Amino acid sequence: MTQYAYDNNSPALCRVFAPFFKVGAAINTRNMIDSSTKDFMSLDKQFNIFTLENESKPEEIHPEEGRWYFDKFDKFVSFGKKYDKALRGHTLIWHSQCPDWFFTDDKGDTAASTFLIKRVHDHVSTAVSRYNGKITTWDVVNEVLHDGGGMRKSKWYDISGEDYIKEAFRSARECDPAARLIINDYNLESSRPKAETMYEFVKKMILENVPIDGIGLQMHLSLDTDMKLLRDNVLMLSELRKYKPELKLEVTELDMTLYPYTWEPDDGEISVTKEISDKFTAKYVDLFQFYLELSKEGLLDTVVFWGLNDGLSWLNGFPKRHRNEPLLIGRDYVLKPAFDAVCELI
Ligand code: XIL
Repeated sequence: MTQYAYDNNSPALCRVFAPFFKVGAAINTRNMIDSSTKDFMSLDKQFNIFTLENESKPEEIHPEEGRWYFDKFDKFVSFGKKYDKALRGHTLIWHSQCPDWFFTDDKGDTAASTFLIKRVHDHVSTAVSRYNGKITTWDVVNEVLHDGGGMRKSKWYDISGEDYIKEAFRSARECDPAARLIINDYNLESSRPKAETMYEFVKKMILENVPIDGIGLQMHLSLDTDMKLLRDNVLMLSELRKYKPELKLEVTELDMTLYPYTWEPDDGEISVTKEISDKFTAKYVDLFQFYLELSKEGLLDTVVFWGLNDGLSWLNGFPKRHRNEPLLIGRDYVLKPAFDAVCELI
C-alpha cells in the first residue's frame, strides 16, 4: 500500500529518530501559508527542525546597505514558535547570493579591511539580535573553504583574510550567547584536503578562543559517494573534540543525486532502474546507520534534508535542468522504499 508523508498513520522521521537526532528540511515561506496543504501537513508531521532555503540569505535580508527585509524571516520565526519547531539561520556570511555593496566603500572603491569588518559586525549583529533566543543554530559562515583545500579566495577573503570569519563568530556570540554557531561547508565527506583544511582551521579558531560550536556538513551526496572516505573524514573532524569536548557536527543539507559525476548534459535524463533504486536505498541505510553511531557518541543531534520532497529539490535544476530524485520522500509525498528502510533501523 502506498503511504504518503502526510498520512495520519504513516511513520514520521522526526518521531522515529527522536531519541537520536532532530530531522529537518529546507523550506520556503510559501510552504507555511496554509496548514491544509500537503506541503504543510507533510512538513509538520515529518520534521522538527527547519532551514529557509533562500529567504534568509544576505541578498534577501540586506540587499542594500541599511535596508533590511525581514518579513519572510519573521514569518519563519513565528511559524517555528507556533508549531514548536527548532530553526536554523542560513546563512549570515556567504560569497554567493550576497550583494556587491558589501565590498565597495562610499567612494565606489574596493572597501578596506576595517570597513568590511565593520559591515560584517553590523550585518551579523542586526540579524542575530533580532532573533535572539529564537534561532537554535546559525550557519555563521558558509562555504569559506576552497574545494581543493585551503581557504576560498572570495571577495571577503581577498579584502580581510580570515578576519571576516572571526568577526562574524564574535559578533554572533555577543548578540545571542545561547545560539549554536556553526561553520558550514560541502564536500567535507568527499575531499580529504578540504576536510583537513576544516580540521586545521577550526582547531585554530578554538585555540584562539573564537566562539565556534560546531561544523555543518552539507552532505550533498551522490550514488557515487565513497562511504569509507565519508566515515574517515567525519571521524577525523570529530577528533577536534580534543580541543573542544562539546563540539557538535550537524548534517545541514542532505540529499543524494542519482546522476554520476561523469554525467554530461547531453546524456539526457537518467532513468531510475531497480539497480539504481536499490543502490540508493542501501546507501541511505548505510548513512543513517553512521548517523546513529555519531549520535550515540554525542557528536550529532541534527540531520536536515535539503528540500521537502523530490519534486521540490533544487537538484532538478542544478547543475542542469533534469529530473532528480535525491530525497527519501518522492514527488506527491510518496514514501520511497529508502524511507521505510531507514526507519527500520530503529
Ligand atoms: C541553493 C537553493 O536550494 C537554490 O534554490 C538556490 O537557487 C541556490 O542555493 N549550498 C547551500 C545552499 O548552502 O544555500 C544552496 O541552496 C545549496 C548549496
